[in-house]
Amino acid sequence: MPKWLQDAIFYEIYPQSFNDTNGDGIGDLDGITEKLDYIKELGCNALWINPCYDSPFKDAGYDVRDYKKVAPRYGTNADLYRLFGEAHKRGIHVLLDLIPGHTSEEHPWFRESQKQEHNEYSERYVWADHTFRIEHYPYVAGESERDGIYMLNFYKCQPALNYGFFNPTEPWQMSYKDPACQQTKEALKDVMRFWLDHGCDGFRVDMANYLVKGEDENRTGTCEIWKDIRQMLDTDYPEAALVSEWANPKQSLSAGFHMDFLLNNPNTGYSTLMRDYSNSKANENTSGVNNKKIDSNTDRSFFKKDGHGDIMRFLDDYMPMYEAAKENNGYVSIITCNHDTPRPRRTLDYSELKLAYAFIFTMPGVPFLYYGDEIGMRYLNIPTKEGGYGRTGSRTPMQWSNGKNLGFSNAFPEDLYLSVDPSPDAPTVEDQQKDPNSLLNTLKELLHLRHEYNDLNAQNNLEIIYAKKETLPLIYKRGNLFIAINPSEEEQTADIATGNTIIYSLCEGNTDGSSQPAAVTITSSSITLAPQSFVIIK
Ligand code: NOJ
Repeated sequence: MPKWLQDAIFYEIYPQSFNDTNGDGIGDLDGITEKLDYIKELGCNALWINPCYDSPFKDAGYDVRDYKKVAPRYGTNADLYRLFGEAHKRGIHVLLDLIPGHTSEEHPWFRESQKQEHNEYSERYVWADHTFRIEHYPYVAGESERDGIYMLNFYKCQPALNYGFFNPTEPWQMSYKDPACQQTKEALKDVMRFWLDHGCDGFRVDMANYLVKGEDENRTGTCEIWKDIRQMLDTDYPEAALVSEWANPKQSLSAGFHMDFLLNNPNTGYSTLMRDYSNSKANENTSGVNNKKIDSNTDRSFFKKDGHGDIMRFLDDYMPMYEAAKENNGYVSIITCNHDTPRPRRTLDYSELKLAYAFIFTMPGVPFLYYGDEIGMRYLNIPTKEGGYGRTGSRTPMQWSNGKNLGFSNAFPEDLYLSVDPSPDAPTVEDQQKDPNSLLNTLKELLHLRHEYNDLNAQNNLEIIYAKKETLPLIYKRGNLFIAINPSEEEQTADIATGNTIIYSLCEGNTDGSSQPAAVTITSSSITLAPQSFVIIK
């Protein structure tokens, strides 16, 4: 386990939308380098940068055309090496995005694979060579010189790389142990080595659970691949870290990942914290990843002050994952949001966001902050861009200042990658830096506390002290620290003895602006929390 993860707080950057330094309307790597001091001051000491490789951008860069080349719109490989160096000078580690399951249909491997004549890449993708259709998997037929059809991993532009089948049932399906499938894995390792040798500190791994097809329920074949890759890291790059898009720590962490994300998948505990709403019948299956209007009466999110949410819906799902992380010596990663998920500001106001972040950044594991969530950027109802669809509204340009294009770019507004938030009260870093009670400054305090108290960093030292179905407050312990949260509009009491030294508190409810009410009242046998409050007690 790389030691630096112990105290890591990640910042996810969607490079298109972060900071444009050359005025072409799209963010670039130099723009990230320019903001490293901002990120550091905020309290983040690690980055995850979404794909920045050469790509036709039909899925915002998750369709890679060249794994070893930075997309010209973001700069050059040299710019990325410089970014690694500047980040390291500031104690910031950098993860790139690794997309192992598929490439773009424009990747030279795939172009070779489509040829009639057998060549080195003929088996690099999953092909059925002798039929017009295949059962159970998405595929494309009739587009290649080669007599056959190929399997897809996600969009139509993303053919599946061939890691084989766990249990082949058709003549065209190769066993995952086949040397050709092993070669796909070696090609992936070669890509990883390339970036690690140039100073990258590891990878966020896209769809990490879905390499070998036709898996058993333990995903044995896919896990074998990751175990082998972890071995490579342990031997040659022991400080490199891997975080998986998997949402099953039992599988992912035992397969060798250091961290695994909680994702906003439908009916997960995570989705009940900040996005427990439905905006259409269809949405019931997508946890809000579409841009339909939300009926606020349906929002039962735990951090919605009038949502009457239930923390057990989160804990019942989370605790087994936490236990699995503990057993496997890995971490669960809780995110504020990501580029696939509606921003939490979609329904939560600043007071609610402060409490949600207080929770996320005092939980065990390695947390991730999505760019712009520190100021509560909105989810915008806008048309799709580069395959984003309902996700596009969470991918708009970072709002730095009150200047042109909110400080994102010097380009003409019509030339921007996506328009900036047009509302007159769009939050900006500039405004929030001036206000001691802003979301930005509150979050900064929370992140600095996490660094200051060892008990609050990644270690798996969680103890649930008070959590009951449809009951508040929530109280948990991290080492010697008691943490209590009341997200509701009413005062809440628990008959629990805690310490009595208050280390930090937030009180967001019932404030008329004249004075800051006390967040908490502690007796020898009870604790009472004011409406919308949070405390850390020793
Ligand atoms: C998950 C990524 O987060 C998402 O943005 C992408 O579209 C798919 N995987 C396909 O790579």
